[in-house]
Amino acid sequence: MMRLGKLLRALRVVRLSQVLESLQLLLKCIVASLRILFWSLVLLMIIQCSAGMTISYMLSDYMSDPARADESARYEVFRYYGTFSKTILTMFEVLFANWAPACRVLIDNVSEAYSLAFIIYRCFVGFAVLNVVNAVFVQSTMKVALADDEIVANEKAQAQADAPLEWRGDLGADRFAKTVVVTGAGGRTGILVVGELLDKGYEVRALVHSKKSKEALLSKYKALPADRIYVADIQDKASLQKAFAGCAAAIVATSAVPKLKVWSLLPFMVKKLFGKKGKLRFSWKGDGKPEKVDWEGQRNQFEMASEEGVQQVVLVGTMTGTQKDSFLNSIGEGEGDQIVMWKRKAEVFLIDLCKKNRMKYTIIHAGGLSDEPGGQAPVKLGVDDKLREVKNLRIPRADIARACVQALECDLAKDRSFDMTSVEGGQALGEDGLKKLLQEMGDVTCDYSINPPP
Ligand SMILES: NC(=O)c1ccc[n+]([C@@H]2O[C@H](COP(=O)([O-])OP(=O)(O)OC[C@H]3O[C@@H](n4cnc5c(N)ncnc54)[C@H](OP(=O)(O)O)[C@@H]3O)[C@@H](O)[C@H]2O)c1
Repeated sequence: MMRLGKLLRALRVVRLSQVLESLQLLLKCIVASLRILFWSLVLLMIIQCSAGMTISYMLSDYMSDPARADESARYEVFRYYGTFSKTILTMFEVLFANWAPACRVLIDNVSEAYSLAFIIYRCFVGFAVLNVVNAVFVQSTMKVALADDEIVANEKAQAQADAPLEWRGDLGADRFAKTVVVTGAGGRTGILVVGELLDKGYEVRALVHSKKSKEALLSKYKALPADRIYVADIQDKASLQKAFAGCAAAIVATSAVPKLKVWSLLPFMVKKLFGKKGKLRFSWKGDGKPEKVDWEGQRNQFEMASEEGVQQVVLVGTMTGTQKDSFLNSIGEGEGDQIVMWKRKAEVFLIDLCKKNRMKYTIIHAGGLSDEPGGQAPVKLGVDDKLREVKNLRIPRADIARACVQALECDLAKDRSFDMTSVEGGQALGEDGLKKLLQEMGDVTCDYSINPPP
């Protein structure tokens, strides 16, 4: 009972703070509108006074000359137009209340010509001028309100909090426009993700590292317009903004790309021949070392996603993150460039970032990638490299690409990190394959307290 009481109190506090926020927003808008309200009233006052004084002047003879009409008729007219204050009140009645009595009293007692004057006045001032003033008033108030950083920030936060995790816009009769940015789209997995998204009717933005990759994408996918392909460098955060702006989700398939130093093959093979352990040597494409690409570059992307209100980030990662002595950590200069460690650090960063806002993450640690066709190999999910008990794990890139896209519409994939590879006893990844595999795996996610990155 006590717990229930505490919960209700907490809910009340939350609701009260929301009500106060709305009230604050209203008050700010009202204060912001005061200036335009003042000038709107001044303009109306000038129009009303001019019209009132003109009509009152025109009626002055009628009201004061007993020869023009009997006393009761002149008194009727006097009640409406006899003094300055009576006339102004009548003019406000004409605009904002019931204009018929003020008009009828003149038509019945003075002249029918006044009907024309009233019709023109009602049409011109009552319709045109008032509506223009209304429109300007609303627009200026909105402008002031929108210019208020605090209001904008509150509304953005509120919209983010209220938005169900679904997509924006309408693409057709039964589909939603789902704008997704794919980074590393020129890479071997990224390019398949782009194809998968296009097949499923998503609106795709592709972020590539070079013009050459852009050309390759353009010639592969005719459905992808050139202006949806952004050439950018993930190490330069500002260069990412255009591609991420307005996207509902981001699929990140960037990575430092190892390049074998061919000369290292010879000593390696000779050592192997004599039954000794040899080491292949690698450098990194474009000098993009793992610390720069897999840590700083990924972090830039996650921050940009968060700043641009992206709702979900799907990240393609690598298995062996739980193993300090992963072979992949050893490739590169000297003792190795610790690629898996930097990737794991970026994953922890993404998870922490998502905890701070409403962004969701899905991290897929792939086994060794192959270029076989998707939807055929038996696939399994696991956590913390437990599937590595099976040797030589491989999985087609096409299956990883398919899983990335399925993760966008699978609630079970949200806020999850898991391994994915092909092993005996698994199941081919069909239409709803990821969901089935996640159901089968149960409610587990990778544990980053194992081999935590520094
Ligand atoms: N290869 C495997 O066996 C394996 C196994 C498990 C997991 N994985 C992981 O799976 C993911 C995809 O692997 P993959 O082999 O398909 O990748 P990939 O072909 O090597 O593609 C990586 C992409 O990242 C881009 N990139 C690198 N630095 C960049 C920068 N500074 N700015 C913008 N883009 C940049 C590269 O562009 P440029 O080439 O133009 O520089 C490339 O298109 C990676 O995270 C990888 O670590 C791979």
